[in-house]
Amino acid sequence: MVVVKYSVNDVVISSVKFLSPFVKSQESFRIFIKMKIVLSRSCDAKFLSPKNADLLKKDVLDNIILNSVWAISGIKDYKEFVANKDKKKSGVIAVKTQKKGSKNVVEIVDDGCGIGEKDLNNVFIKGFSRRASKGFGLYLAKKTVEKLGGEISLKSEIGKFTKVKVII
Ligand SMILES: Nc1ncnc2c1ncn2[C@@H]1O[C@H](COP(=O)(O)OP(=O)(O)O)[C@@H](O)[C@H]1O
Ligand SMILES: [Mg+2]
Repeated sequence: MVVVKYSVNDVVISSVKFLSPFVKSQESFRIFIKMKIVLSRSCDAKFLSPKNADLLKKDVLDNIILNSVWAISGIKDYKEFVANKDKKKSGVIAVKTQKKGSKNVVEIVDDGCGIGEKDLNNVFIKGFSRRASKGFGLYLAKKTVEKLGGEISLKSEIGKFTKVKVII
C-alpha cells in the first residue's frame, strides 16, 4: 500500500489557497491585502502524514494567517467596522518557508497593528483575545505544533509588524 505524505510547502499552499477567497472578499470592505508566498525547494520533502498535514493546516497556519488578516483590517467588532467602513486599508502578509538544519521553518509576517509589549506574553494563553473573539487560535496552534514535535514563537512591534515562526 502506498501511503501519501505531504511536505510543509504542500500545507502552506493548501492553507493559502483555502484562505485566498476570504482575503479577496475583504476588498468589498476596502481592505486590500497582498499575500506574498516564498517557498524553499528544500521544504518539499514529504514527511507529514495526512492527519498531521491537516492539523498543521487547520490548527496552525489557517489560524495564524487569519490573525494577520484581522491585524491588517484592525477591526475589533461590528461597531468598529461600521465606524471605519469608509476607510481604505492595505497590508501585506508574507509566508516564507526555509530549511534550518533538519527542520522546516515557516514564517508568517504581516504589517498589521502589531502587539504591545504587555500583551506579547499573553497571546498563547487560552482565551486571550483583543477583539470580539474566543482567543483559542494561538493556544491551539502552539498545542498542535508541540504535538508535532515543533516549536512556535511570535515577535511583534506595535504599529509595525508581527512575525510568527513555526519550526517543524
Ligand atoms: N498577527 C497579529 N497581529 C496582531 N495581533 C495579533 C496577531 N496574532 C495574534 N494577535 C493577538 O493575539 C490575540 C490572540 O490570538 P488568537 O489566539 O488567535 O485569538 P483570537 O484570534 O480569537 O483573538 C489576538 O486577539 C490578537 O490580539
Ligand atoms: Mg485567531
